[in-house]
Amino acid sequence: MHESLPFEDSLASISTGDLPSLLEVEQHLHEAYGHYRYDDDGAVADYIPALAQADPSLFGASIVGAAGNVADVGDAAHPFSIQSVSKPFVFALVCDALGHEQVLDKVGVNGTGLPFNSVMAIELNQDRTMNPMVNAGAIATTSLIPGRSGEEKWEFLVDGLSRFAGRRLEVDDAVYASETATNLRNQGIAHLLDGYGRLYFDPDEATDVYTRQCSLLVTAHDLAVMGATLADGGINPITGEQAIEPRHCKRVLAVLATAGLYERSGEWLYEIGIPGKSGVSGGMVAIAPGKGAIGTFSPPLDDAGNSVRGQRLVKYLSERLGLNMFASKPIGLASPPAGTARRLA
Ligand code: DON
Repeated sequence: MHESLPFEDSLASISTGDLPSLLEVEQHLHEAYGHYRYDDDGAVADYIPALAQADPSLFGASIVGAAGNVADVGDAAHPFSIQSVSKPFVFALVCDALGHEQVLDKVGVNGTGLPFNSVMAIELNQDRTMNPMVNAGAIATTSLIPGRSGEEKWEFLVDGLSRFAGRRLEVDDAVYASETATNLRNQGIAHLLDGYGRLYFDPDEATDVYTRQCSLLVTAHDLAVMGATLADGGINPITGEQAIEPRHCKRVLAVLATAGLYERSGEWLYEIGIPGKSGVSGGMVAIAPGKGAIGTFSPPLDDAGNSVRGQRLVKYLSERLGLNMFASKPIGLASPPAGTARRLA
């Protein structure tokens, strides 16, 4: 199952088409924003005290195309801590540094079907860590970041995430302090994994680097740029800088499809049809390979920790912009020349 095949890292790809024109993209984005702007379902996360102060009315979204087109709406420039939306990008950096096979062996790539901070998922699965999108696998992934000290790992990580964003990212010190003071569960998870031989650095230091990574400030626009970099073979479409090698993008997106929305990942893919990732401060990114990405910010969450308005807006746009990767139209409808049979007998 895991052996390498000679063509494994071929850059051959299927075309997933293009985004509609920028004008159409802007129109649909503004419509979607108008539709969901006053929805008030969900609740702001409060298990990290600093997050409980977020204004639930904030709502912003951004679309960045793989060709570099940009459309922003609402509070798209409002800064918030990236939280779990950092996980795919750190996973991408580790794939780039060590090879994606290492992540497969040392962390895993299967969904847990359980909440993001589940300890039961560690106990119930022989492999202990299941994937880089839930806290256990994410802390293990962060522990694999190159560097002999926590500080070296941090520098590598922040440099890499900043390449994805196309600007130097900074930590929200208040969120970092608040989560550091209350993250006993993540500390426990790190020590448990260490006991099982599934953590690759000191558990306290790995948790600290992970907590700092979650505290990096981004905007919905940044998330769209970061996602569009994964949609564009690892090249940031705004700066032109290569964040990671192209061959890793498809692996990162595959794991996002499986686990990006935690125990709701199946429903998300069923409804929306593109990989996405959510975070407890209300950020989301959804990525249409080859086309671009949507970044959203709206703090109220559903009970799995996913932004309610973010999910609704992405669903709307996935349909209007034709983003669903699984959608096809019958080949017979593609205007065949008169009298030509289009189907293979
Ligand atoms: O480790 C935590 O619990 C947070 N720093 C991040 C969790 C998160 O964003 C889950 N997302 N929905």
